[in-house]
Amino acid sequence: MEILKKKSQVRELVNKERSKKQIIGFVPTMGYLHQGHLSLIKKAKNDGCFTIVSIFVNPLQFGPSEDFQRYPRDTERDLKLLKEANADAVFIPSDEEMYNSNHLTFVNVSKLSEKLEGSFRPGHFAGVCTVCAKLFNIVQPDRAYFGWKDAQQLIIIRKMVRDLDFNISIVPVATVREEDGLAASSRNVYLSPDQRKKALVLSRALQKIEQMIKFESVIDANLLIEEGKKIIKSEDVELQYLEAVELENLERVEKIRKNTGILGAIKVGNVRLIDNLIME
Ligand code: PAF
Repeated sequence: MEILKKKSQVRELVNKERSKKQIIGFVPTMGYLHQGHLSLIKKAKNDGCFTIVSIFVNPLQFGPSEDFQRYPRDTERDLKLLKEANADAVFIPSDEEMYNSNHLTFVNVSKLSEKLEGSFRPGHFAGVCTVCAKLFNIVQPDRAYFGWKDAQQLIIIRKMVRDLDFNISIVPVATVREEDGLAASSRNVYLSPDQRKKALVLSRALQKIEQMIKFESVIDANLLIEEGKKIIKSEDVELQYLEAVELENLERVEKIRKNTGILGAIKVGNVRLIDNLIME
């Protein structure tokens, strides 16, 4: 596995592989890899891609009161996992390699970035889009893999790619869950055992909604959301939002159908967690 620190090294490697007719698959991450990331790499490998992973904790997507400094980092562990997953290359740039000291350009997908997560984390998605646009320009992949776990991020990146004519297919991959049902996330390590038990209420609420849709044919979004909120409020956590939305534009829907999703966020102590149910 090639370990690359400079943009020029990535470009050189990609040119070499493309001249051998390789399809370039790209998995952007902020490291502290978990099963969710590994499933993206597995999908890229199964698709036959020369698979490049990036590890960069992007300061632009953290608000001033968020966890940028304490975001979990362990490069040695990540490299070991990447080798085991047969990733072909990893790009680990420094902050200076990614952003010059006078960086003034930002990419913002308006409207979609202001809803749901965006209303709790202003500026977050502009940070995500800016770093992804840069990474896409550096790696120039044919495909980029994103998890449904961060559904709003996936939808916004897909929109950015369409609006700005990036020649990249965005490939969505299903959420990976830990044994107890918690959606895999690098931030799960922040949870104490007691908080973890409480955190499970979000996946439990989504599971109940899924059962109501599947087995009781309930499609009334208000009814489903009410039931989900009732479950979440029975636990000692802060419900930030639970909404049924159209996946294309994140507008609220009245009825659940194909291409809608139920997106939720809770706060357990200081830890924010998101999860969702996607009807693709
Ligand atoms: O999902 C993430 O880990 C990040 O938001 C991403 C896409 C790597 C951009 O920094």
